[in-house]
Amino acid sequence: MGSLGFSSPLVVAVLCLVLNAALLVNGGKTSSFIRKVEKAIDLPLDADVFQVPPGYNAPQQVHITQGDLVGKAVIVSWVTVDEPGTNTVVYWSENSKQKEQAEGKIYTYKYYNYTSGYIHHCTIRHLEFNTKYYYVVGIGHTERQFWFVTPPEVGPDVPYSFGLIGDLGQSYDSNVTLTHYERNPRKGQTLLFVGDLSYADIYPCHDNNRWDTWGRFVERSAAYQPWIWTAGNHEIDFYPEIGETVPFKPYSHRYHVPYRASGSTAPFWYSIKRASAYIIVLSSYSAYGKYTPQYKWLEEELPKVNRSETPWLIVLMHAPWYNSYNYHYMEGETMRVMYEPWFVKYKVDVVFAGHVHAYERSVSIPSMILCSKLIFSFFKSPCIVMIALALLECASMQFSVFFCFSK
Ligand SMILES: *[C@@H]1O[C@H](CO)[C@@H](O)[C@H](O)[C@H]1NC(C)=O
Ligand SMILES: *[C@@H]1O[C@H](CO)[C@@H](O)[C@H](O)[C@H]1NC(C)=O
Ligand SMILES: *[C@@H]1O[C@H](CO)[C@@H](O)[C@H](O)[C@H]1NC(C)=O
Ligand SMILES: [Fe+2]
Repeated sequence: MGSLGFSSPLVVAVLCLVLNAALLVNGGKTSSFIRKVEKAIDLPLDADVFQVPPGYNAPQQVHITQGDLVGKAVIVSWVTVDEPGTNTVVYWSENSKQKEQAEGKIYTYKYYNYTSGYIHHCTIRHLEFNTKYYYVVGIGHTERQFWFVTPPEVGPDVPYSFGLIGDLGQSYDSNVTLTHYERNPRKGQTLLFVGDLSYADIYPCHDNNRWDTWGRFVERSAAYQPWIWTAGNHEIDFYPEIGETVPFKPYSHRYHVPYRASGSTAPFWYSIKRASAYIIVLSSYSAYGKYTPQYKWLEEELPKVNRSETPWLIVLMHAPWYNSYNYHYMEGETMRVMYEPWFVKYKVDVVFAGHVHAYERSVSIPSMILCSKLIFSFFKSPCIVMIALALLECASMQFSVFFCFSK
């Protein structure tokens, strides 16, 4: 209707851009993967990936994560079931055969009628950067040996590769996903896990044995490289009907993270530096409104990021802020309203989220805001320069020139 008022060259220009955007807005085919229509089927308890390691009181569910702010410490965790056993981790670097040891702590918890095994967490500190270490757990009875490589020293020009998994669970597809990650020729050195670990809560009374099977399943990767943990909705395990009123009970007993090192007061939000990246982990299921501990922590945390030291600023959370699927639609909206202006101000590079079991990505939000402002001026002002600017800006962003249709 309104377009009748335009001179014809402009109409042509607009139409070209619309067509162009239609082409560009399609990100292309990035993978040959097509998701099955059928529901995922969980692995049976006797699946090979759930096998209990042989030997009396053998450590199982071994996993590691970063143990400090900069990557010179590692938290080693494992479970023993017959008796507490020793808490010691013996470790040595590939270069020096001098063996060191560190002592951890043992935790247990009960959930409804389930009693956990002895959960060990031991932080080993003062490690050298960029070094391969071997470590042994289960001293005294059945010893098991693993290894990891520490990251390079934090700095701007340090290449490093992160893997990304979320919503893993323990189905046949979960095993395919983990295998896919392990076989990737790019070789992820650390895995960023964006929440929803075991899905034990889909079983009657949140059968916590499924937390144990999951721990055994991911050991083949998580014992050799740090998995950086984020809490998802399947970690909440809040179930007052059976007397379970402490949120995150199984998760927080089993997966320790170095939250104190970044001044956090709870393990659900924290940050680490690793190589050239500053990684902030947020909790979609802890309070995040104004004056809450998470809000205050993040408010103080963002200004601390020194982009000359860590040019990459990455945020992990479970529920995405932008999601165009019906599934879990707008669940991240209230957190977006609280924190998005900060992310724009502090120029967060990338946010990874899980929850919606489908892939989607968006252009950077600051450019989206700029673009909508320009489009707004386009509609308000007849100024030709503005129009050109708006179109150029949006064309380069490969989206939303569709707005022009409504003119
Ligand atoms: C716990 O309760 C569930 C459901 O009532 C039952 O199937 C299971 O056998 C119980 N487990 C133990 C260890 O008592
Ligand atoms: C899981 O994947 C591994 C390969 O990484 C394979 O050896 C194993 O048999 C698979 N297990 C199941 C139950 O699919
Ligand atoms: C930021 O990091 C750079 C490079 O490591 C360092 O030289 C500088 O002193 C740091 N700035 C502040 C304010 O800490
Ligand atoms: Fe989820």
